[in-house]
Amino acid sequence: MKLELDHFTMAYEDTGVGHPILFIHGYPLGRRIWDPQLRNLLGMARLVVPDLRGHGDSEPTDVPYSMELFADDCMTLCERREVKDPLIVCGLSMGGYVSLQLVQKYKEHVAGLVLVATRAGADSDEGKKARDADIALLDSKGASTIVDKMLPRLLTPETLRRRPKVVELAERTMRKTSAQTMAHDLAAMKARPDMREMLATIDVPTLIVHGKEDTLIPPKEAEAMGAAIPNATLVLIDGAAHLVNIEQPTAFNEALKKFYQRVWSN
Ligand code: MLT
Repeated sequence: MKLELDHFTMAYEDTGVGHPILFIHGYPLGRRIWDPQLRNLLGMARLVVPDLRGHGDSEPTDVPYSMELFADDCMTLCERREVKDPLIVCGLSMGGYVSLQLVQKYKEHVAGLVLVATRAGADSDEGKKARDADIALLDSKGASTIVDKMLPRLLTPETLRRRPKVVELAERTMRKTSAQTMAHDLAAMKARPDMREMLATIDVPTLIVHGKEDTLIPPKEAEAMGAAIPNATLVLIDGAAHLVNIEQPTAFNEALKKFYQRVWSN
C-alpha cells in the first residue's frame, strides 16, 4: 500500500487485527525484513510496517535525513491510517535509534517499546570515520559494494552457509536501497544524538532482543540498555547475529507475543 505524505510517497503494510505494533526497519533495509513477523503475528495485532523514506518502495527526498525525521514520518503514517491506540514500537538497529527518538517525542502514543539489535549511544569518533569511509565508498563504487561488505556481518556463518532463503531475504531487501539513500542514512546515523541519559526516563514496558552472535552491535550494548531502562526485559537469542528477527523468527516472535500480552494485560 502507498500513502502520499507531504514530501514523498510512503510504502507500507497495515494488516492484522488487535492493538497496533509499529515495526521500523534498519539500515540499509526495508519493510520486507519484517516478513517473518507479518506472517506469524497477523492474528494477534495490527501490524503497521513502513518503508522509511528512500527505502523499499518509498520515494527518496533531497532533505538530509535524521532519526527524528524518520520518527515523524512513522507517526504521520499512523495518524493518517488512524492508528488510535497507543502503540508498541519495535525498531531494529537503525530502527531502534528511530524508536528512541519516537518514544522521546511522542511518549503519549507509546504503550511499549521493543529494541532489537540496537544501542543507545551515539557513534564514537572511530564510528564516525567509518561512516565517512562508507560514504566515500558509495560515491566511488556504488551501493552493491556496501551490500557485499555488510551481508557477511548481518548473519551467522551457519546461516550464511546453510540457509539460502534467509540470506536471500536480507540481500534482496538491501539491494533495493540506492547509494543515495545509503549515504543519507549514514550521515543521519553519524549525526544521531546520544540517548543513554534518556533511557532512565522510559516509563513504558520495554523488551530488548539481541542475537548472541551479533558482531555489528555487540550484546553488551543490549545489556547496558537493559540495566538503564527501569521496566526492561532482556532476551538474548542463540544462533543469531544482527538480523535476529529473520535468523530466529520462532524465538523472536515468541518473545514479542509474550511482551504484547504483558503490555496489554496490565
Ligand atoms: C543497522 O543495521 O541499522 C545499522 O547497521 C546500524 C548502524 O550502522 O549503526
